Amino acid sequence: MTFTPYDRPVRAAFIGLGRIYDLNMRAYVENPDVEVVALVDPSEERRAERARDWPDAQTFASVAELAASGLAVDAVEALLPIPLHVDGVIELLGHGWHVNLQKPMCNTLPDAQRMLDAAAANDRVLRVMENYLFYEPLQKLKATIEDGTIGDVVGYHLKMVASGRGGWDVPMSSYEWQFKQMRDHARGILVFDDGWHKLATALWLFGPITEVRAWIGATEVVPGVSMDAPTMIAWEHESGVRGVWDITLATDLYLRSDYYTNDERWEITGRRGYARVNRCTGRGIQQPSLEVYADGELTSYHDLDDDWASSFRDSGRHWLRWLHTGEGPRWWSGEEAVDVLRFALAAYASSAAGGVGVHPGKVE
Ligand SMILES: NC(=O)c1ccc[n+]([C@@H]2O[C@H](COP(=O)([O-])OP(=O)(O)OC[C@H]3O[C@@H](n4cnc5c(N)ncnc54)[C@H](O)[C@@H]3O)[C@@H](O)[C@H]2O)c1
Repeated sequence: MTFTPYDRPVRAAFIGLGRIYDLNMRAYVENPDVEVVALVDPSEERRAERARDWPDAQTFASVAELAASGLAVDAVEALLPIPLHVDGVIELLGHGWHVNLQKPMCNTLPDAQRMLDAAAANDRVLRVMENYLFYEPLQKLKATIEDGTIGDVVGYHLKMVASGRGGWDVPMSSYEWQFKQMRDHARGILVFDDGWHKLATALWLFGPITEVRAWIGATEVVPGVSMDAPTMIAWEHESGVRGVWDITLATDLYLRSDYYTNDERWEITGRRGYARVNRCTGRGIQQPSLEVYADGELTSYHDLDDDWASSFRDSGRHWLRWLHTGEGPRWWSGEEAVDVLRFALAAYASSAAGGVGVHPGKVE
């Protein structure tokens, strides 16, 4: 890749103007690194609604129309339904645009390779954004582990309870492609879609993984549609540190949230203490978002920016700054996303084989 930073604001387009646009667009507001020049979505209603945010941008019903218009674009924010990621990204890169893609990257390793090959062939950058890496309580958690406050890490636990009540409205059209993901590819919302973030944080915090063991369940929520819980996944990092993650579905649990209604935790145990992030997407009960215990004292953090939307803003700003100035490192690359995909695929392979240990490097 022969990337040279732009010496002017990046000209950007949003491809897909659905639910998550509301958070992604925050990186672009009043940002001198970028100029939003185009909005693309087949829905006329969404184009009209989002055009109010960017009165100077042109709107298009398809990527082909944008490309044919001759409008100059440097980079795109790909906010497409997951089933469209592979062909969509290859098309976007083919037009010579850098791509910031939403997770999950795609369903299979051959598809991931096609996407990476398309980036290389067009000499463009494919980033798979991971907003959780920009959530301040998780960043502070990482810093706490690294500064030795809790001693050497001896193990950790992730927890996720998918709750059915509270939070913002998700349009039925979004669920339709999620159901397609489950039906056609056996990739569930909890383990694969939302779970992608949890797997990513495990890699980000503790590095490469050598073995994964999983027991992925299913619970029918409406006739013919199942959610991928109860699920337990355990793994070991190259360092020997082990992690475990449990996913539970609590359909009638009410949880206060401005966004989705997950009750999430990261609890890291060290030789001298522990550090725990108490929430992320949802607000849950009003605990401090990070607590650190060591040597008989509990430190509670009450002033971190624990609004989940801020992680989208900061992830997007990081990308745009990188494009504009080259200031890095660039979190995360397409290759790092493939590591997350391998982790997920190892969990599926393990579960299918009755919970045996699977090396993520050996999945196909
Ligand atoms: N980072 C996160 O935490 C997070 C959270 C939610 C969703 N996501 C991801 O964001 C992406 C979009 O999710 P969403 O919830 O906004 O979905 P959505 O269904 O609400 O929106 C998708 C939009 O894409 C449009 N679209 C469909 N085909 C298109 C095409 N060919 N060209 C342009 N636009 C097209 C649809 O009309 C719709 O407006 C998915 O990859 C999803 O996994 C990430």
